[in-house]
Amino acid sequence: MVISHSVNLQPYNTFGVSAVAAHFANIQKREELEEAITFAEVEGLPTLVLAGGSNILFVHDFPGVILHIGNSGIRWLGGFPGSTQRVRIAAGENWHSFTKLCLDKRLYGLENLALIPGTVGAAPIQNIGAYGVELADFFVELSVYDRQSRSWEVMNKSQCDFAYRDSVFKKAGKGRYIVFDVTLELSGIWKPNLNYAALGNYLGGGKPDSKMVFDAVCAIRRSKLPDPSRLGNAGSFFKNPIISDEKFTVLSKQMPDIPRFDIEEKGLVKIPAAWLLDRLGWKGGSRGAASVHRNHALVLVNPGGATGEDILLLAQEMSSSVLENFGIALEPEVQII
Ligand code: EPU
Repeated sequence: MVISHSVNLQPYNTFGVSAVAAHFANIQKREELEEAITFAEVEGLPTLVLAGGSNILFVHDFPGVILHIGNSGIRWLGGFPGSTQRVRIAAGENWHSFTKLCLDKRLYGLENLALIPGTVGAAPIQNIGAYGVELADFFVELSVYDRQSRSWEVMNKSQCDFAYRDSVFKKAGKGRYIVFDVTLELSGIWKPNLNYAALGNYLGGGKPDSKMVFDAVCAIRRSKLPDPSRLGNAGSFFKNPIISDEKFTVLSKQMPDIPRFDIEEKGLVKIPAAWLLDRLGWKGGSRGAASVHRNHALVLVNPGGATGEDILLLAQEMSSSVLENFGIALEPEVQII
């Protein structure tokens, strides 16, 4: 394992902000992860797992050891031909490339999750989701290193405790579990999921095949969300708030066109943070070197030269305005370091 020192993390975060990590371990194998953790413990340093860097904002330099999970490999585990197929994917594999591979192999389910930036290992942390589908729908198990018990474990779906953009990995506290591979089960039988209005409308009815859905998801995402390789961003900066039915009734009297998404929990409803922010005029807004994307009020961007602090200040101003005007506290979706 190679540990580098004083590494600028600018190429390792999709916001493209500058922050220096004191130490940076490039990890391919299980033993290398254990070695890097031992190094951090001996030196008394904090650690941070970093993979694609697509959901993180560095506000300051990082004084500890970055654990950069870069393992690779995809193992098709078999299943029931024509019905389901299990596959184990190394955490360091790119998520979008994997969804494309499934499409080519005629294994279905992940089309709606195409083009989400980041790695396979990061997908379960926040239970990535888009267009009516989330990772949990296909999840079987994953391998993790548990720093508390200092052992390698396999965790099944209920142990992962998935929820909207949430999982045990977020709840368990910083860096307890480090995901090393993920096992999913995909279907060999095509059944489109067009429940998300924007996707159904884009396809305009009929019986789309998997490639049509995959291409539609990519086209919608490209039209709304900036490509991080061209314009620094981390997708949605805040989660969509979940509020009570009563609160929703009050808001809808004030703003009759406020959208709502029904969720499983009774008495609660999810509303789009983007809509609230848009209403307050945030789309295309800016503060200093950081701005809000011109096509989407939930996406903060670094047009070049913004620091993590600039982006954080803008985000704080946005959430304060939502709190003041609607009495709703927005929660960041992005991890702030
Ligand atoms: N809207 C506005 N103004 C805007 C943008 C959107 O009023 O500037 C309205 C839209 O008209 C729509 C609603 O807000 O009624 C929702 O917008 P959108 O379909 O773009 O979805 P979102 O709720 O903003 C969520 C996820 C995205 C995911 C999309 C599609 C969260 C926090 N975000 O966004 O995930 O791609 O749905 O499923 O749940 C991410 O997590 O980084 C991410 C991009």
